Amino acid sequence: MGGDLPPALKAAIARELEGRPRRDLGARRAAATAAYRAGGTSAAAIRGADDALAYALARLPATYAAAAAVFAEARRVAPGFRPASLLDAGSGPGGGSWAAREAWPSLRAIAWVDASAPFLALAGRLASGAFEPDARRGDLASADLPRADLVLASYALAEIPPVGQAGVVGRLWNATDGVLALVEPGTPAGYARLLEARGLLIAGGATILAPCPHADACPLTAPDWCHFSVRLARSRDHRLAKDASAPFEDEKFAYVLAARPGVAAAPARARVLARPHAGKPGIDLKLCTPAGLERRHVARRDKAAHAVARRLGWGDAWPDAEDAPAPAPR
Ligand SMILES: C[S@@+](CC[C@H](N)C(=O)[O-])C[C@H]1O[C@@H](n2cnc3c(N)ncnc32)[C@H](O)[C@@H]1O
Repeated sequence: MGGDLPPALKAAIARELEGRPRRDLGARRAAATAAYRAGGTSAAAIRGADDALAYALARLPATYAAAAAVFAEARRVAPGFRPASLLDAGSGPGGGSWAAREAWPSLRAIAWVDASAPFLALAGRLASGAFEPDARRGDLASADLPRADLVLASYALAEIPPVGQAGVVGRLWNATDGVLALVEPGTPAGYARLLEARGLLIAGGATILAPCPHADACPLTAPDWCHFSVRLARSRDHRLAKDASAPFEDEKFAYVLAARPGVAAAPARARVLARPHAGKPGIDLKLCTPAGLERRHVARRDKAAHAVARRLGWGDAWPDAEDAPAPAPR
């Protein structure tokens, strides 16, 4: 399972839920989902405290797990990066900040910039007793953005009007002293937004840490798109809010990690772009490599390589170990 919510956050959500009829929250969750699916933004979907709480119950665990997966990759690629400050841009109920704190206990200063008063109020109550953010209500397109070692925009670019997205990416990058993490829904549209952002960031001097093992054009062509998946456990309340019976869900997400040149990092040599297919003759992998897209077969009879490939999952970096299957030709 992917990043489980920290106990203090679970407890804070449970406190918010005390005495609230779950049926009402489920109905609010359904209304908010319908509003988001119809292309609406949080401004339309989250009208008040109960809507914000319904989001925290139904969506926060998934966006937390996606951010946690992205931060795990950042730590793997740049193990020496220890941010002291975080800007969580479009922070919503603050799940991304909690994931960042789990990944980097070095974080001391956390700033939120969000347009939504109900989200900021809920996020503040959830964080109370755990950390004290500098919470600012404002528009990412125009507000003062405090500089930070780590800047996160999680499921937020999607809500910026297309004409303003390049400007917001530029502003987020300007605020970044170390690493910028952009996380979006794992849809073709989320991927397209990130592809656009990636191009802007590379032009702005960024090093792409992940998921790409190169800074060249993305080798994927429609209808294919780059995205990943994280599995997370659903609590009883989470299931009730979503009217779902399965004890887990798979969150599809897309991301880009971009760094200032001063951040020491070793980006992947290649990345697994889909769930590996294991059959009798061996394992079939879809890889993004510096030479482009590659389908690689690792034969079962090649014991050492097969043992390494068996441990690889969707989204993993190609291992650097000496017994790793031969890398793609450059
Ligand atoms: C779908 S929520 C994601 C919240 C959180 N980052 C997460 O991953 O769960 C999008 C957030 O972006 C905020 N947002 C959207 N457009 C914004 C803008 N122009 N300026 C500031 N915040 C914005 C919304 O208020 C909302 O909190």
